[in-house]
Amino acid sequence: MFQRIRYRLLLSYLVVFASLLGIFAIAVRVAFTRSLNEQITDKLTAIGKGAAANVEFEKGRLKIESDFRPQNLIADRQALQWFDPQGNLITQQGQAILNLPLLPSQIIQIQTGKVPIQAVTVPIITNDNNQLVGYVRVSQSLEEFDETLEKLDWGLGGGIIITLVLSGISGILLTHQAMQPIESSFQRLKQFTADASHELRSPLMAIKINALVPLEYPDEIGPKDAEKFQAIASATNQMTRLTEDLLLLARTDKIPTHNWNTLNLASILENLIQLYQPQAEAKQINLKFQLIGNPQLMGDAVQLTRLFTNLVENALNYTPSKGIVEIKINRVGSQLYVNVQDTGVGIAPEHIDKVFERFWRADRSRSYWSGGSGLGLAIAQAIAQNHGGLISVTSQLGVGSCFTVRLPAS
Ligand SMILES: Nc1ncnc2c1ncn2[C@@H]1O[C@H](COP(=O)(O)OP(=O)(O)OP(=O)(O)O)[C@@H](O)[C@H]1O
Ligand SMILES: [Mg+2]
Repeated sequence: MFQRIRYRLLLSYLVVFASLLGIFAIAVRVAFTRSLNEQITDKLTAIGKGAAANVEFEKGRLKIESDFRPQNLIADRQALQWFDPQGNLITQQGQAILNLPLLPSQIIQIQTGKVPIQAVTVPIITNDNNQLVGYVRVSQSLEEFDETLEKLDWGLGGGIIITLVLSGISGILLTHQAMQPIESSFQRLKQFTADASHELRSPLMAIKINALVPLEYPDEIGPKDAEKFQAIASATNQMTRLTEDLLLLARTDKIPTHNWNTLNLASILENLIQLYQPQAEAKQINLKFQLIGNPQLMGDAVQLTRLFTNLVENALNYTPSKGIVEIKINRVGSQLYVNVQDTGVGIAPEHIDKVFERFWRADRSRSYWSGGSGLGLAIAQAIAQNHGGLISVTSQLGVGSCFTVRLPAS
């Protein structure tokens, strides 16, 4: 049980941490991409302005100054293109040439493709009369940009994985440390229950014996006193059962597995049915049994009998007369499924999660029988878990309930 809590704690811790790291990584990446983009744009604008300054306007035509060498301005993986005001290409220089038409309204153009290219368009304006004479478009291949981003991604990804592994390890240590006091106080509580119920056994036995003695001499005590002694004896019986149940619950995880045998579940259930047949007949309940497959398993016969006794008792107790209680064993692969189905009062949907809780009982006015303590299903659940199995329940109020026990077959 604690193991599961520990795993869940660790998992939620890691999920929260991983999402925080993820958000952080996305923020870093977005900020980095944006500033890198701005840098490229600024650089290309500066080159474009430099190139625009080196043109002359002659007889209505754009002329590049003779001593201007564009290769001085542009680096590897960059290119320069000159356009007239109508957007027709005049000349171009460089390697990363954009094939898109010039769009003067769009300062930044990006060409996607095998090698992405980014371009910045700068208008050429004459100094003397502020006339637009053409455009310079500077472009740069984004290969380097992508490489840088890829490196960043690897760095961030690697960093996140390493941080998660490290925080996972420290999380294991921390959850272990955090659970330790809870675990030990739980163990102490369990030990206390076990000790208390153990200690209660002998005084209860003494009360019971002493209450029964006067009943053997009915002539010496009046019928009124006899009734009282009878009440003491039956209350003591109930308390004895309760302490036995508590003791069993406190010790379920300590039950040794060395007295496990190969058992036939069918014979256990057939014996139970024989035992409860008279009770069923008295209530005019039809108690049925059905077997499919070989129901062999490893387990403790006493405990498993106890488990199914609780289920059959419940089914009989919470089913009104003329009802049906059906027990089915089914083998599916390596699992045995035992269904105990009744046509009884059923369990309300809001109560269905509570039936396996200790001391929980549905509304007493609805309970057909009030002899129990509400530990029966908690014990059944503990025994099933002890055998590597599980109990589940489906129920409909007023229609009936079906308890299913899954146990590993052998
Ligand atoms: N087959 C069933 N049909 C309807 N209600 C059920 C059925 N089985 C259990 N319940 C409900 O679940 C409660 C808990 O059952 P559980 O067996 O743990 O306790 P109990 O039968 O009341 O007492 P105990 O078994 O300790 O003598 C019951 O009081 C009852 O309200
Ligand atoms: Mg019960």
